[in-house]
Amino acid sequence: MSTEEGVRATNDDASQCKRFAVDRGYWVDPYISMFTPKGKQTHAPEISIGYFARVKGLRLLLEKFIALTGGKCQIVSLGAGFDSLYWNLKDSDLVPASYIEVDFSAVTSKKIHYIRRSPALLQKITSDDDDIKFSSTDLHSKDYHIVSANLKNLSELDKKLHECELDKNLPTAFVAECVLVYIDKTNTDSLLKWIAETFNTVLFINYEQVNMNDKFGEIMMDNLRSRDCMLHIEYCANLETQIKRCLDQGFDSADAMEMRHVLSSLPQADVQRIERLEFLDERELLDQLMSHYCYCWAYKDKDKIGLEDINFS
Ligand SMILES: C[S@@+](CC[C@H](N)C(=O)[O-])C[C@H]1O[C@@H](n2cnc3c(N)ncnc32)[C@H](O)[C@@H]1O
Repeated sequence: MSTEEGVRATNDDASQCKRFAVDRGYWVDPYISMFTPKGKQTHAPEISIGYFARVKGLRLLLEKFIALTGGKCQIVSLGAGFDSLYWNLKDSDLVPASYIEVDFSAVTSKKIHYIRRSPALLQKITSDDDDIKFSSTDLHSKDYHIVSANLKNLSELDKKLHECELDKNLPTAFVAECVLVYIDKTNTDSLLKWIAETFNTVLFINYEQVNMNDKFGEIMMDNLRSRDCMLHIEYCANLETQIKRCLDQGFDSADAMEMRHVLSSLPQADVQRIERLEFLDERELLDQLMSHYCYCWAYKDKDKIGLEDINFS
């Protein structure tokens, strides 16, 4: 398997884990099953709780962003894989002016194939005169776009976002959920710098590994290396390195939180409900896992729309 194949395969893992947790009742998502078949593998409750916090945490930050902008905003999901957030936001009437997903062509072409064969997915995509433009790797509609690009190639990314009619003057949230860690430091630096320089009013949300300089981190690295997947963990040493990277690349402000604290700041009735779904053998294991992932969010708010209010409190 090539390294790129190894990285792309992480999308299969993520969508399988999300589907598994949804099937077990951790959260509601009628769409993820349309992108990924029921897997044979079962996953420990710690993994499903981790995905619960990841999905709910991102949703919470984005809901605040959409509310703050009254929907006059754009969301760009970098390395979106088979994520189904667009459809789930639509079901809650939370729709940005434009929702754009970017990934390798091998991933976007599969996603487009699944969309084309699923009326439930197709009918939720807003389009003028039912006109959704498809190529084998890209999709364009009024408010939803999928484009293929390598995030290491900024001119390709810029060109593809231009094809989506991305408005650089509209508040825009960029999301990278377990993506940057697969890209080397030089290229992630350039990507973040480009985002911070190009948009006046922009929120950047990153979910990935943290506190990686320990035994747990070493085992995770070995495990992924054996699957042809190299993790770039220069910025995953601690919350401060995550924050500093964003500030160094031009964002005005940044913050970060370990996932165990994100979990504690989510609505507790929901958290108690999911913790009762399956027997949790060792609480310590959950805490260990959740202290090795974080959300980091950063912004530039030239239009002063109040991006400083976006956080987990
Ligand atoms: C772990 S998956 C996460 C998928 C999705 N964000 C989620 O959380 O369900 C990582 C995704 O990033 C994509 N990716 C990684 N490096 C990329 C690059 N250089 N250009 C485009 N996509 C990339 C992979 O193809 C994969 O779909």
